[in-house]
Amino acid sequence: EVKTNKYIISREQVTGLLKPRRKFSHKGTYGHALLLAGSYGKMGAAALAAQACLRSGVGLLSVHCPKVGYVVLQTAVPEAMTLPDTEETHLTQLPDLNIYQAIGIGPGLGKESATRNLVRQLLSTTPAPLVIDADALNIIAEENLQANLPAHSILTPHPKEFERLAGPAANDYHRLELLQEFCRNYQCYVVLKGGHTCIGTPAGELYFNITGNPGMATGGTGDVLTGIITALVAQKYSPLDACCLGVYIHGLAGDLARNQIGAISLIASDLIENLGAAFGQLS
Ligand code: APR
Ligand code: MG
Repeated sequence: EVKTNKYIISREQVTGLLKPRRKFSHKGTYGHALLLAGSYGKMGAAALAAQACLRSGVGLLSVHCPKVGYVVLQTAVPEAMTLPDTEETHLTQLPDLNIYQAIGIGPGLGKESATRNLVRQLLSTTPAPLVIDADALNIIAEENLQANLPAHSILTPHPKEFERLAGPAANDYHRLELLQEFCRNYQCYVVLKGGHTCIGTPAGELYFNITGNPGMATGGTGDVLTGIITALVAQKYSPLDACCLGVYIHGLAGDLARNQIGAISLIASDLIENLGAAFGQLS
């Protein structure tokens, strides 16, 4: 039985959240985000997260990536600064983390042993709020690092990743109970992705998203969400507001893309191209 408060994320709620862009604001006003992403063969995940982050209003973006990703990112995402690791194929070393307002980790990361150590070190030393996705979640599950999660971290698992973190669910209702329990235990926000993405909070609330469509069931759309939420956290939206606004705008961009090219042909880049129109509908 699901015991606590459940909400549907409404258009009115997210419209009210959107912060205005003021005349004399500047890059510093909108935060500097860091993405730790990519490995050999998976630099696309880092590029998608980076583009989505930039289209979601962040002031500055740096991406720490393996050497193999340096030219890829400088070419695919010229607006992002690139911090290459010393290792060719995967991430091994944390850069200086002290200048960032938000840190997103996971898209295309891989699970090499040095990368596992990097995740462990990040959890224990981060000076900025974390948005944790994909292989960073798988590493946390496999290395049993759940108790090391900094309070108020945002995790964005799909159901399989959530199962690795929290154990198997007997059915959809049981999964929501596990979601509440996990968020309470570790005082974190979990964006459990799916047809109706559900956000769990440290207080045990559940927020359900109603935007989005099955055209989004295609590789890379999750990486786009990581970029969006990281950008919102860098802009000082609260963790709950960043999650709610993030999943709503991600789904809305997906719905606009579906209206243009159809669910069958929709790819993750189409979400990024429609982020401007999606934010526009809320302004
Ligand atoms: N309706 C609405 N939204 C959907 C639907 C649907 N039927 N199916 C998927 N989505 C949305 C989810 O809510 C989520 O935001 O698409 C996104 C998919 O995210 P992921 O499952 O993380 O997929 P993605 O990351 O893009 O795929 C590559 O495979 O196992 C993984 O996580 C690993 O990142 C790697 C990935
Ligand atoms: Mg994913």
